[in-house]
Amino acid sequence: MTLSCSLVVELKNVLKRYHEIIAVDHVNLSIKAGEIFGLLGPNGSGKSTTLKMLLGLVKPESGSVNVLGIDVQEDPVAVKRLVGYVPESSRLYEFLTGIEYLDFIGDIYGMQTKEKKVRIGEYLKAFELEGREGDMISSYSEGMKQKIVLISAFLHKPKLLILDEPLSGLDPRSARIVKDFLHELKAQEVTTILSTHVLEIAQALCDRIGIMYHGKILALGTMEELRQMAMLPDSGLEDIFLKLTGTNDVRAIVEELLK
Ligand SMILES: Nc1ncnc2c1ncn2[C@@H]1O[C@H](COP(=O)(O)OP(=O)(O)O)[C@@H](O)[C@H]1O
Ligand SMILES: [Mg+2]
Repeated sequence: MTLSCSLVVELKNVLKRYHEIIAVDHVNLSIKAGEIFGLLGPNGSGKSTTLKMLLGLVKPESGSVNVLGIDVQEDPVAVKRLVGYVPESSRLYEFLTGIEYLDFIGDIYGMQTKEKKVRIGEYLKAFELEGREGDMISSYSEGMKQKIVLISAFLHKPKLLILDEPLSGLDPRSARIVKDFLHELKAQEVTTILSTHVLEIAQALCDRIGIMYHGKILALGTMEELRQMAMLPDSGLEDIFLKLTGTNDVRAIVEELLK
């Protein structure tokens, strides 16, 4: 593996079609180490498909996908070892307890028993799940389940986190914990790429944002740069921004994230 450049993710001219639908349309994207990068776009714009291609879960029809210096097509297993992934809808083994599940995930990644125990304990505490780890996952709230999914993605100390709509199901306080956590990881040079369909969430979490629309990355930059672009006449971005503004149910989350 070579990491001669600081690019953690590099997509070149990536195309993915599902029959006649173009899900990802000749996308080029570079993400640097330590960035928190947001893919922002309405439902169906191609965010999840793009993220899945970074892990080798979906194969591009053409173009290349390079993650942490590895060609994903050539060695998807090596990529999965270095990456933590939270899919948009994850299935937990609900008949396990929280701690049993995390223990099992740690084993899959080949973690040493002691380190695994210590890290699981730290994360359960940080995510305010202490005291419930011995209960079956089937008894957890949606937010608690999402916390378990997030912890299972962080557990093996990945260099890159791929989070598909990571705040879904979380209450404002938990969303805040996730934000602070991502910033802590950023300080350790961990790169995060996340997707969201809510503008304000991307703004609160991300250093740089790519706006996806009909499979294309239409614009890329900091939120301030994107807002300036959106104000340009005929940019087309203004309409897209309106579609992406959060509804009442995310207001409380956004307020907490901005505190
Ligand atoms: N497995 C699939 N089979 C067929 N079409 C799919 C599949 N996954 C995604 N699509 C289509 O590809 C497009 C992009 O989907 P997706 O990447 O899930 O977008 P987003 O995550 O932005 O909502 C949509 O039109 C969606 O219906
Ligand atoms: Mg999606």
